[in-house]
Amino acid sequence: MKLLVLNGPNLNLLGLREPGVYGSDSYEDICKQIAGRAEKLQIEVDFDQSNSEGGLIDRLHACMGVYDGVILNAGAYTHYSYAIRDAIAAIRLPVIEVHLSNIHAREEFRHTSVIAPACRGQIAGFGPASYLLALEAFAEIAGRL
Ligand code: DQA
Repeated sequence: MKLLVLNGPNLNLLGLREPGVYGSDSYEDICKQIAGRAEKLQIEVDFDQSNSEGGLIDRLHACMGVYDGVILNAGAYTHYSYAIRDAIAAIRLPVIEVHLSNIHAREEFRHTSVIAPACRGQIAGFGPASYLLALEAFAEIAGRL
């Protein structure tokens, strides 16, 4: 199984950005943790990050025929990007939505995920482990992709 781990705006600043909310691990630290767990699960992973909506959409389109699924943290676009939701629906690949923080326990605007209905599932609130749990979820559903 081959997955893309795709991160959206401001997630390149992890470690520096609001550490009280997002923790002190950098983007690179988190990628390393994901790569380590993926190896154990015999899942091939690539990583990408974009700060722009179009960049994320282009990357999602390019997943077709290349990846078996996507682990997506769309950052703030989660809450209002119908274009990213449509891209997820268009590519017909399982996408697991992840968030480091528990978006449902934060400001009201974060309680809505407009991408959730197009995703296979959502994991939020476990810090970097949200990505590891998404890998486990893919390993679990591997036979049903
Ligand atoms: C986030 C939650 C979003 O509300 C926020 O805009 C982010 C990060 C998370 O991982 O907790 O950029 O997706």
